[in-house]
Amino acid sequence: MNHSAFSIDSLESRRQHFKKTVSSVSNSISQVCDHTIDQAVILGSGLSGLSLTGFETIAKISYLDIKGLPKSTAPSHKGKLELVSNGSTTIALCSGRQHLYEGYSAQEVCILIYALSTLGTRSLFVTNAAGALNPEYCPGDVMLIDDHINFTGHNPLIGQDEQFGITFPDMSQAYNKSLSHHAKAAANRKSITLHCGVYMGVTGPSLETSAERRMFRTLGADAVGMSTVLEVIAANHTAMNVLGLSAITNLALGDENQKPDTIEEVLAHAATAGAKIKCILEGVLGA
Ligand code: HPA
Repeated sequence: MNHSAFSIDSLESRRQHFKKTVSSVSNSISQVCDHTIDQAVILGSGLSGLSLTGFETIAKISYLDIKGLPKSTAPSHKGKLELVSNGSTTIALCSGRQHLYEGYSAQEVCILIYALSTLGTRSLFVTNAAGALNPEYCPGDVMLIDDHINFTGHNPLIGQDEQFGITFPDMSQAYNKSLSHHAKAAANRKSITLHCGVYMGVTGPSLETSAERRMFRTLGADAVGMSTVLEVIAANHTAMNVLGLSAITNLALGDENQKPDTIEEVLAHAATAGAKIKCILEGVLGA
């Protein structure tokens, strides 16, 4: 066998492996719930425990029992999928996600998104913890993600065929305008300040240097974090509508007053902002 024939075979076998893994994840979820899953929420660091008025839990599954789903090893990520329904709409509440910094590939990070798309999910609500690059933001604030910059150097579509979507999906409106409008209205009704800004996605796990943070600000970003951008690419690939909300957990201005960041500070402010995010999501999903 010549070298190029070998490469094509191994590319094809990696594609088949990915598709099999996605269908194994879908099968595990449909074993506990045979409804179409209309919408899904990914709850990031310190944000799990959303309760939606008018919705009842119809099934729960630990990520450990979802065959093919990479384990979520990040601190304060529960690794649990809860299905809730109000009789007409079923929502998957996914507490915990996979990250590049845990050692997973871009496709592994997105397996759950692809599995949800095969189970019928048309809208995805992503949340995360992020550092503020915009000097007007404070820890505990919430930012609606208007757009993102994928600074990870990874893309989950690399190497895929067209099973899940087209090869060159448009990303000019990666975050759905109508969902964003509903989020702004919900925040307004509940008197929650909601910033709107650009999320910069990096790999981590080391935090950014002060020079990097100043550069990210110059590049047009308002907040920086270690997740979300790949999931949003995969969701757009499968033509889902996306809403993104960031819990601002620390100041990441990289200026002369920059303090060292601690995980304790991040988690404490994630809880404050998380309570606001829950109110906004309840307003959008319960509407
Ligand atoms: N940088 C990257 N990721 C983060 C930060 C940060 O400052 N805060 C919370 N997640």
